[in-house]
Amino acid sequence: DEFLVKKGDVENILNWKVVQHKNVEVPFKPARVILQDFTGVPAVVDFAAMRDAVKKLGGDPEKINPICPADLVIDHSIQVDFNSLILFLLGSCIYGENIGEPYLIIFTCRSDSLKKNQDLEFERNKERFEFLKWGSQAFKNMRIIPPGSGIIHQVNLEYLARVVMDQDGYYYPDSVVGTDSHTTMIDGLGVLGWGVGGIEAEAVMLGQPISMVLPEVVGYKLLGNPQPLVTSTDIVLTVTKHLRQVGVVGKFVEFFGPGVAQLSIADRATIANMCPEYGATAAYFPVDDISIGYLIQTGRDKEKVMCTKKYLEAVGMLRDFKNSSQDPDFTQVVELDLHTVVPCCSGPKRPQDKVAVSDMKKDFETCLGAKQGFKGFQIAPDRHNTIVKFNFEGCDFELAHGSVVIAAITSCTNTSNPSVMLGAGLLAKKAVEAGLTVKPYIKTSLSPGSGVVTYYLRESGCFSYCSTFVSNFLLQGDLVAVGVLSGNRNFEGRVHPNTRANYLASPPLVIAYAIAGTIRIDFEKEPLGINASGKKIFLKDIWPTRNEIQVVEHQFVIPGMFKEVYQKIETVNESWNALDAPSDKLYTWNPKSTYIKSPPFFDGLTLALQTPKTIEDAYVLLSFGDSVTTDHISPAGNIARNSPAARYLMSRGLTPREFNSYGSRRGNDAVMARGTFANIRLVNKFIDKQGPQTVHFPSGEILDVFDAAERYKQAGHPLIVLAGKEYGAGSSRDWAAKGPFLLGVKAVLAESYERIHRSNLVGMGVIPLQYLPGEDAGSLGLTGRERYTIIIPEKLKPQMNIQIKLDTGKTFHAIMRFDTDVELTYFHNGGILNYMIRKMAS
Ligand SMILES: *[C@@H]1O[C@H](CO)[C@@H](O)[C@H](O)[C@H]1NC(C)=O
Ligand SMILES: *[C@@H]1O[C@H](CO)[C@@H](O)[C@H](O)[C@H]1NC(C)=O
Ligand SMILES: *[C@@H]1O[C@H](CO)[C@@H](O)[C@H](O)[C@H]1NC(C)=O
Ligand SMILES: *[C@@H]1O[C@H](CO)[C@@H](O)[C@H](O)[C@H]1NC(C)=O
Repeated sequence: DEFLVKKGDVENILNWKVVQHKNVEVPFKPARVILQDFTGVPAVVDFAAMRDAVKKLGGDPEKINPICPADLVIDHSIQVDFNSLILFLLGSCIYGENIGEPYLIIFTCRSDSLKKNQDLEFERNKERFEFLKWGSQAFKNMRIIPPGSGIIHQVNLEYLARVVMDQDGYYYPDSVVGTDSHTTMIDGLGVLGWGVGGIEAEAVMLGQPISMVLPEVVGYKLLGNPQPLVTSTDIVLTVTKHLRQVGVVGKFVEFFGPGVAQLSIADRATIANMCPEYGATAAYFPVDDISIGYLIQTGRDKEKVMCTKKYLEAVGMLRDFKNSSQDPDFTQVVELDLHTVVPCCSGPKRPQDKVAVSDMKKDFETCLGAKQGFKGFQIAPDRHNTIVKFNFEGCDFELAHGSVVIAAITSCTNTSNPSVMLGAGLLAKKAVEAGLTVKPYIKTSLSPGSGVVTYYLRESGCFSYCSTFVSNFLLQGDLVAVGVLSGNRNFEGRVHPNTRANYLASPPLVIAYAIAGTIRIDFEKEPLGINASGKKIFLKDIWPTRNEIQVVEHQFVIPGMFKEVYQKIETVNESWNALDAPSDKLYTWNPKSTYIKSPPFFDGLTLALQTPKTIEDAYVLLSFGDSVTTDHISPAGNIARNSPAARYLMSRGLTPREFNSYGSRRGNDAVMARGTFANIRLVNKFIDKQGPQTVHFPSGEILDVFDAAERYKQAGHPLIVLAGKEYGAGSSRDWAAKGPFLLGVKAVLAESYERIHRSNLVGMGVIPLQYLPGEDAGSLGLTGRERYTIIIPEKLKPQMNIQIKLDTGKTFHAIMRFDTDVELTYFHNGGILNYMIRKMAS
């Protein structure tokens, strides 16, 4: 349109090879927005207030709707859902009465009180939920996913991701911005997306593009085949670690090469989800047949999926990773040969002592003789081969150094990828089919934080208790017996006192060592066991292939998970449906509510633009050094009892127990304005000690920041803030711009800005001023006790040099950081929301 998106922008993208290192900004219009309730509530509040404003100006309020489709997933309120993980284990009973019987275990790591918790949370959040429900009915293009449906990214993967948008008669690729740093998970499914701040998300909903630096794209080539014992977790961790070494901060990563086809969508999503760990903006996996298969498995409409596929094929976006003629050009290419991923265990005493599986036997034998220590048991050389014979339930057995007596899968933290657990189950199943069993004296257990599992295992006969019995024989031979455990990092105190060596291993390896009965085995050369027909069975004979695991995953796990999620929706649906939400197009604000309040952003707004005026004789509200973060500006945590926000809430009849956090009160501007600069760790140069206070210069009094701002406002004095480098660092927060605006801050003068925070200030009509290169408050001799007159010329240009006069007579220049014509337009309108209101009202 030559306003939001110009010809030059398109040319810059086409010309990426030339301009990629030049920090060129390009506008990006994502296909949709995803919000969670903490950020969603203030967005819906703003939209509701904008409708009121349009009506006041004589326009049609119903014109205010998200222009870009938005999904709001309510997940933050129900805390317990974060801890609920669903695991599946398919296998065969290894011994006991039901030997060989297949079983499928489904268990959840969560307390039985989920429903109770849900009800409680629902009651507590009722006010906000009613408001959101109103929003979902009043606005077009806004969908609300009721609480309890699942955590936001799972819902995004399983329900919301379109992959290809089908909107207004057009197909186009799906892309998304979300108000959460883990939005990147969706890149695993071929949907480009990342996290943004609240004001940016609102701007996108209003049809505005995101202005971003044209990114460098690092091509990450995956080659080769993983070694047999390698699990998905091993691969994910290796890729993550590698990307951290490569250095991809602020860049895009795109995966290609034949190795990608070996990764399931769960693997891809896990790698993409770890973006914040290695600093990439997005880690993208283009769509291939596996992604298409996933869409079908998660219950999407088959016909729609076929349209998706055809469209992607037609535009050349459906990738066959094995066909290298489809490989794109990248800024830089790095490679990982999957064959080099080495499966490891760690131990025998500390989690940080890694041992490659192929070295386990040798390493253990070295430890046996070594001096007592983290890697030593100091067993005399002539006793290394001690054997203790015993009889257990009528059979003869032998124990030696390295005998496995405990094998346990005890992880609740590394289970986002069910394929590893499935691998363990399949291995157990295949061992049974080959005629192998675990020696009955080995205590095996599987207890990812849940009593339910133990119950299932006991029911299926796959459980035994005998370690005390075995202990005596261990003591008798002074044996170094072994425990093999999966996942959990702190094995001290968890494991039996008589297992002197304890190794951490992946769940399938736990099963393998349990079957072998010893840690002193080289899987390459020695069989796990010999079956009743005298056949030697090697680990490689029964290790499930990635393909076998994926087949089972597709057949059982994914539909099962889907069903589980669906059931949860049904239970909360009742309460959600029962909520009483008004059906009017304008929201009837409840003056009693302390959560939802109409913000004063649009008070006195007129249709006609007012020429921006020079800011006369502003006082400095606060004077900061470097690296003031958005959390200093607008804290999200507890509301301190002696703070202005607390005094406000108490005046509304609330007790401190009912305060809740700033995060949950983002729908109430009165709380959020009082919470601005209320961080107890605030360091303000005007005050000797740290804390949320400042000097009110006309009176010389020291006051809470909000109270000082109020006094200035009553006397009609404008305010500015002085800052050092990287002002507004940290995660983007809309209230870090809205709050200062409400306090009457007209401009910030800083050495530099965090990128998104600067654009948030612009969005609220607050002027981001920047010292000229080489200058700062020190070099200009500013104390902050002066009064500042900021001269705004009538004709403005992007990045204009403007003059600032002090009441001391001194004059200096600064850059007005409105970087584009679009940003200047917002400024003329007093911010992006006002701009939209005028546009819709006229
Ligand atoms: C590889 O991809 C190219 C481009 O899409 C296509 O023309 C070619 O037929 C493909 N080759 C094979 C073997 O599939
Ligand atoms: C022993 O293993 C072989 C090869 O896997 C298999 O064919 C045979 O049935 C097994 N014997 C028993 C008794 O399980
Ligand atoms: C479990 O996950 C954590 C990070 O979430 C990782 O550091 C650890 O190595 C993982 N453990 C295993 C056994 O994969
Ligand atoms: C939840 O309720 C809505 C009506 O508000 C209905 O359309 C939907 O099918 C219900 N979902 C489930 C899973 O019961």
